[in-house]
Amino acid sequence: MKHPILIDTDPGPDDALAILLALSARDALDVVGITTVAGNVPVAQTTLNALRICELAGDLDVPVYAGCDRPILRPLHTAEFICGKDGLAGMKLADASRAPAAPHAVNAMIDHLRQSDVPLRLCALGPLTNIALALRMAPDIAAKIDRLIIMGGARDLGNITAAAEFNFFVDPHAAAIVFDSAIPITLFPLNATYQAVASTERLGDLDGTAPVQAQVLSMLRRNRAGGAALGGDKGHPMHDPCVIAYLLWPDLFEGRDCHVAIETAEGPTVGRSTIDWWGRSQEPPNAHVIGALDADQMFARVAVSLRSLDHRHESDSKAKS
Ligand code: RIB
Ligand code: CA
Repeated sequence: MKHPILIDTDPGPDDALAILLALSARDALDVVGITTVAGNVPVAQTTLNALRICELAGDLDVPVYAGCDRPILRPLHTAEFICGKDGLAGMKLADASRAPAAPHAVNAMIDHLRQSDVPLRLCALGPLTNIALALRMAPDIAAKIDRLIIMGGARDLGNITAAAEFNFFVDPHAAAIVFDSAIPITLFPLNATYQAVASTERLGDLDGTAPVQAQVLSMLRRNRAGGAALGGDKGHPMHDPCVIAYLLWPDLFEGRDCHVAIETAEGPTVGRSTIDWWGRSQEPPNAHVIGALDADQMFARVAVSLRSLDHRHESDSKAKS
């Protein structure tokens, strides 16, 4: 059965790989829409990037909706110092041949959820601003969300501050609304996603002459340099692809139900996720938190998926000639 999913994203190099992985898995995932949000770079750029990534995948049917240009309360913080000025450092993507779809991403998310015959799985790859506002504008949609799979937070150190992970740091109020929603959540904190390092051993044998694989290789090579700056000398952790890989291959992941609280008060810990991994608090769990994954197997399957996209490219262009 194909699972209908919505992807909320701030591309972002790792978002790009996650979107390519989702679009490659047509037999397992039905991407009904992509909603963009300000995060790694401003929303005008994340929207352009999402359109360009769909173009690279050869998928012009998935609507891309532009979303919120800033967090609910805090000022916008972006991450060009990591992902480059255009947000897709290392990738040279062709311009998109289409514009974003109307309406605003928050309205589109509400419409898709209300109109779907079955509950959707929502993949959150960036700050949770769009999702939190959709829940506030239309509380009824919570019943149409089968599960929220979120990349964000950290059990230990953050990556944008000592305390906080980037997605939750950018919009902690949105994260607090989502974790208070009682919607089933699977959370990928940094402790899990830092295991998903796109090392040469794991993805070095991609075919640099094929369109999709060449772009991913170029992004990874550039991020490998950046990865060293983040303490990852073997390459850049691919945070967001873990979310899609979980939908495709859940057997590769292990976790436990925990209570997760988000710090919204201004100060050195704003945006921090307190993940009660050892069940010390009396608070009931509100998320299934991933703690371990088989990264070698995950990337082996990601490589197969990327090759399938290039094979699809090849057969589509042969059919057109
Ligand atoms: O902290 C990592 C997360 O922040 C990833 O989703 C990355 O793309 C950025 O959005
Ligand atoms: Ca992201």
